[in-house]
Amino acid sequence: MIKISIISGSNRVNSQSLRISKICLQKLKTKKVGIDLINLAKEKLPFWEEDLGENISSHKKSFKKISLTLSKADGYIFVVPEWGGMVPPQVKNLFLLTSNNELAHKPGLIVSVSESLGGAYPVSELRSYSYKNTKICWIPDHVIVRRAKEFSPEKEPRLNSRMDYSCKMLIEYSKALKSVRKASDLKTFKNGM
Ligand SMILES: Cc1cc2nc3c(=O)[nH]c(=O)nc-3n(C[C@H](O)[C@H](O)[C@H](O)COP(=O)(O)O)c2cc1C
Repeated sequence: MIKISIISGSNRVNSQSLRISKICLQKLKTKKVGIDLINLAKEKLPFWEEDLGENISSHKKSFKKISLTLSKADGYIFVVPEWGGMVPPQVKNLFLLTSNNELAHKPGLIVSVSESLGGAYPVSELRSYSYKNTKICWIPDHVIVRRAKEFSPEKEPRLNSRMDYSCKMLIEYSKALKSVRKASDLKTFKNGM
C-alpha cells in the first residue's frame, strides 16, 4: 500500500498549517493509502548541529523516529506557511536533517498557507532550494491557500477540487516513481551538484 506523510510546517500551536494538514488527511482517508501526520509544532526538532568529540548532536536522537517514518513513505504533502515571505526555519531544518536520503526520488506536493494574499514565495523557494541533496521531486501541481483562516472546503469548491486533484496526482506519482527509486544509486550519488 502506498504511504503518504503529511508534514505540517508551522511550529505555532493551533496553526492554520495544522488545520489544513488535517483537511488533506481527510482527503487521503478516502483513498486506499497509509497516512502519517508529522506536526513540527509538536515534534520541536532541534536544529542541525555537528557532533563535537564524544557529544553526539541532540538532533540525531530526536529525529530517529521521524526519519524512519519519512523513509517508509512513498510521497509527501508539505503544508508550509509563508513567514516573512519565506519558508520558516523549522521546515528548512527538516531538509538538513533528512540527510540519509529519506526523501530521495519521492514526490512531494507543496501546499502553501498565507493569512492574506501571499503564499507564492514558499512555493518558489521550495521548488528552487530544497531538492539538491534531499532529491525530493516536487510535483508540478501545487496548492496555495490564501486567507487561510477563512478557508473551508465547502465555501471554496474550486480550491477544494484542486486539492482533491493534487492529492490524486501525488498518489499516482508516488506509484510511478517506485521504479525510479529502484534504478537510483544513492551510495555513489548521495548529494546533488
Ligand atoms: C513570523 C511570521 C511571519 C509571517 N509572515 C507572513 C508573510 O510574509 N506573508 C503572509 O502571507 N503571511 C505571513 N504570516 C502569517 C501566516 O501566513 C499565517 O500565520 C498563516 O496562518 C500561516 O501560518 P500558520 O500555519 O502558522 O498559521 C506570518 C506569520 C508569522 C508568525
